[in-house]
Amino acid sequence: MLRTHTCNELNASFVGKEVTLCGWVNSRRDHGGLIFIDLRDRYGLTQIVTDPNDFADAHKFADEVRSEYVVRVTGKVRLRPEGMKNSKMTTGEVEVLISKFEILNKAKTPPFEIDQDKEIGEELRLKYRYLDIRRERMKKNLIQRHKLIKMIRDYMDGQNFIEVETPILIKGTPEGSREYMVPSRLYPGKFFVLPQSPQQLKQLLMVAGMDRYFQIARCFRDEDQRGDRQPEFTQLDVEMSFVEAEDIIQINEELMIKLVEALVPHKKLMSKPFPRMTWQEAMDNYGSDKPDLRFEMKIIDVSDEVKNCEFQVFASALKNGGTVRALRVEGGNKFTRKEIDEMTEVAKIYGAKGLAYIQMAEEGPKSPFLKFMKEDELKAIYAKVGAKTGDIIFFGADAFLTVCEALGHVRLSCADKFGLRDKDKFAFVWIYEFPLFEWNKESQSLNSAHHPFTSPMNEDFELLDSAPEKVRAKAYDLALNGTEVGGGSIRIHSPELQSKIFDILKITKEDAQSRFGHLLHAFEFGAPPHGGIAWGLDRLVMIFQDEQNIREVMAFPKDQKAKDLMLNAPSEMPDEQVAEMHIRINMPKK
Ligand code: AMO
Ligand code: AMP
Repeated sequence: MLRTHTCNELNASFVGKEVTLCGWVNSRRDHGGLIFIDLRDRYGLTQIVTDPNDFADAHKFADEVRSEYVVRVTGKVRLRPEGMKNSKMTTGEVEVLISKFEILNKAKTPPFEIDQDKEIGEELRLKYRYLDIRRERMKKNLIQRHKLIKMIRDYMDGQNFIEVETPILIKGTPEGSREYMVPSRLYPGKFFVLPQSPQQLKQLLMVAGMDRYFQIARCFRDEDQRGDRQPEFTQLDVEMSFVEAEDIIQINEELMIKLVEALVPHKKLMSKPFPRMTWQEAMDNYGSDKPDLRFEMKIIDVSDEVKNCEFQVFASALKNGGTVRALRVEGGNKFTRKEIDEMTEVAKIYGAKGLAYIQMAEEGPKSPFLKFMKEDELKAIYAKVGAKTGDIIFFGADAFLTVCEALGHVRLSCADKFGLRDKDKFAFVWIYEFPLFEWNKESQSLNSAHHPFTSPMNEDFELLDSAPEKVRAKAYDLALNGTEVGGGSIRIHSPELQSKIFDILKITKEDAQSRFGHLLHAFEFGAPPHGGIAWGLDRLVMIFQDEQNIREVMAFPKDQKAKDLMLNAPSEMPDEQVAEMHIRINMPKK
């Protein structure tokens, strides 16, 4: 070892001992005679000092070094003079008087300061990620991520799970996103696909009798970037045999609670065990399948109250089979015209045509549409939503999903305005009984809401033929503070049922064979009933660390445009290499 101690180890008990430290020059202060350097490594900081009267050679080197030089120093630990001690630093009682000073490597002036907590443009941070990781924020996040993964592995091991690595070069898994493809050199015109998740492989491991599988699994999805999405991300992937949804929920909840209590003990778990609600309840009350339960503010159905009203917006929505729902926001009467317009814009992003409202002012209710409403209709609305002076009531009138989603987002925006989304509260919730299918407007057909291997609920089997859109799935998601952190399901294990689902999805027999023949075939050799779940690990660590973006908890993420700015990838490849892949590049016309 080039060192005897790390930069976070020394304290008064080492006084008089000779030590050797290695690290980066974090900061350097020249006090005329003495030079003080804060030496930094992953573990912390230690103050070293050189004195021209004591060790002149060492002092010369100390004079030469600049920020981020890599050095190795030897010297005796001594107490700092009273008044110079720093109780905020682990090593704050002592300093090391250096007798031997070696410069291991010089460093250019970094493009940003490492030792300060300033905001730095993300492009620069990503380009120089190796320097960014020297900074406290990234370092802390990566260490926390490591601890979380380590605890997961220990826990899963203790529960008899086996970690199995599944391949990265595979055949497509249909889970809704676009896939990354890898051309095959040996097989012209053929491609591997990078896994969107190990979904089919973990199911095959259940057929293989592994019983309890998990993996810290890398997944790849070529989808549009957002704050909580990356093209390459990590899941805790789990699959279990001979279980029901309840068993999977229990194990995952226990693990999650352990992680929260050990790693972020300052976060207040709002409810333990975690509450559960059906997808229908979540949509009805919160307008979201991942409701933020740190605050109430429920959406309320007022269709009955307005069913005979003359306000065209409401009347026509109801006539078309839609619904009218209200969101009462306490304190919202204070909203300015501009703020109401902002909320209307939020609703419109999610497909609403507008956002009607009533302000409950001191002098009485105010609203552009009051003139269309009868007194008893208004009274009924106020009673239903519990309106009080000082509130604003927003209304959505449209098809069920449009109204829920729009008001759901208005709900979140209002909560943001009133500071109701307290980061120190953790509100987990399990959402279950998802619809098995969703209607795809573009293709005018049904798609799987989760993936095509999800089992329908037994009670709804009969609806598969008559009203498939009403069939509920044995699927469950785990949401935390309004973010989906995990999702899974009990799978179909009968080849007949699987074929039936493919039929409903309009996947032909030939297509099913060519895409999932391996799975269907495997199911003919004795598949146990099985199910599982996957957590978005990056998202979870992001929320643990109070970060707004999953890039903050990934060592080398892609940027918002799915590029790696440090490696400059993707990049062009030499012509010969492309040709070897039997690929011809067809550049888009400018
Ligand atoms: P799903 O697609 O819901 O399920 O993914 C599981 C969890 O992974 C996280 N996640 C992402 N995180 C970062 N970037 C992304 N692009 C991204 N996409 C998803 C989310 C999500 O809850 N095979 C199934 C699981 C199963 O059925 O067992 C699956 O992958 O937190
Ligand atoms: P309009 O009839 O378009 O002038 O709208 C009257 C009020 O109703 C405005 O405040 C609109 O924002 C609102 N509004 C319009 N369409 C809807 C809708 N589908 N749901 C809720 N409010 C709406």
